[in-house]
Amino acid sequence: MSETATITVGGKTVELPVITGTENEKAIDIAKLRALTGCITFDDGYGNTGSCLSNITFIDGETGILRYRGIDIAEVAEKSDFIETAMLVINGKFPTSAERRAFSSLIVENELLHENMRVQFQGFPPTAHPMAVLTAMINAMSCFHPHLMEIHDDAQFHEAAAKLLSKVRTIAAFSYKHSIGEPLIYPTASRGYTENFLHMMFKAPNNDYVPDPDVVRALDLLFILHADHEQNCSTSTVRMVGSSQANLFTSVSAGVSALWGKLHGGANQAVLEMLEGIHKRGDSIESVIAKCKDKNSDFRLMGFGHRVYKNFDPRAKIIKAACDKVLSKLGKEDPLLDIAKQLEAAALNDSYFVDRKLYPNVDFYSGIIMRAIGIPTNMFTVLFAIGRMPGWIANWKETRDNANARIYRPRQIYMGAAKRSYEEAKREVIQ
Ligand code: ACO
Repeated sequence: MSETATITVGGKTVELPVITGTENEKAIDIAKLRALTGCITFDDGYGNTGSCLSNITFIDGETGILRYRGIDIAEVAEKSDFIETAMLVINGKFPTSAERRAFSSLIVENELLHENMRVQFQGFPPTAHPMAVLTAMINAMSCFHPHLMEIHDDAQFHEAAAKLLSKVRTIAAFSYKHSIGEPLIYPTASRGYTENFLHMMFKAPNNDYVPDPDVVRALDLLFILHADHEQNCSTSTVRMVGSSQANLFTSVSAGVSALWGKLHGGANQAVLEMLEGIHKRGDSIESVIAKCKDKNSDFRLMGFGHRVYKNFDPRAKIIKAACDKVLSKLGKEDPLLDIAKQLEAAALNDSYFVDRKLYPNVDFYSGIIMRAIGIPTNMFTVLFAIGRMPGWIANWKETRDNANARIYRPRQIYMGAAKRSYEEAKREVIQ
């Protein structure tokens, strides 16, 4: 007999099915609740709401577990590169060597932008935030690839996914070059995915930029660690938009917009800006911690806390080790890293943070790595978007493939004015 939950409301008792996930997480299936009781549920911020059944990523925030398709993130990060990880996340299984070669070729084939798309960069002011450019240009891909709009066609999906993974790097690097007034650097087919991105970012006609292999690996690692993170704000956005049967490009573009906010992907930029501010003003660690705790201040320790992880963020552990390695390889002493380490130590020993289960998240160290590599601060979230591309694509596909899919359409509880006349409302303004 399968488990049920009993709810009594308005004098009526109903039994609802309980769904059990692979890792024994339980969820009360409320699909029939409104029909049976007239009630809906209220969950501001969705902290208790499972919005979908998913096979992609498992997170246990209490114990700090993150798995892509069942495999622990530490193992994926150690043994795979970003493209293999992307294929695992999107397709649900590792590729064969032949599949990998074919997909890599498709990535190479698609690395250029249509020339008309390239000239669009001129239309943006050089001061434009690269996240604004990224979201606009990814959406513009819908205009340049109109043959990929048939969302239920698997061959089209495969091509659109490769285009997105490949071109997102080119768009990102072109937006950076445009912002600093340097000529755009085209990708070269012989370079690997991440090396090619660094090449487009830092090569100029007057330099012989060759990325250090350790730097390439650190950035590849960063992409792997960001590849998916189940139903976060941007991924839920992609699914929400995709549920209306919008095409992959425009759905992912909406995800990029959602990622931009500083409570989500914008946090890595906010961490760096916070550390720079502390350094510039010479603030003591004690005063920063005190400000976080001050109820009259809305200051938060950026890069700390997570809606899901209440123990530690497994990605932060891996990134912290990579951060130390890159800095020592590049011979960079970074005062911001020292501040970050002191802040981390102070917070982890402070009851305010301990009681609220606030630990460093992935953004705390990723910004320092990117800074050491030479990535400008306003590009940090763009790099997060490159890394998150497999997760957005996989989640869009999962929504598309759901045989019971309906358009996402939450309800609300109306708390506004009760019915009143037009004249009454006008009188309120005049008084
Ligand atoms: N610094 C200081 N206090 C904090 C922090 C922080 N970084 N994060 C949470 N708190 C406090 C809150 O003030 C609140 O305290 P209270 O109970 O006394 O009111 C309590 O901890 C719970 O905070 P919520 O905002 O309810 O936690 P929520 O789960 O909604 O937020 C979030 C999670 C947005 C990540 C939050 O911790 C935060 O703002 N962190 C800083 C921004 C950041 O690093 N974001 C990156 C997230 S990871 C990612 O997107 C890849």
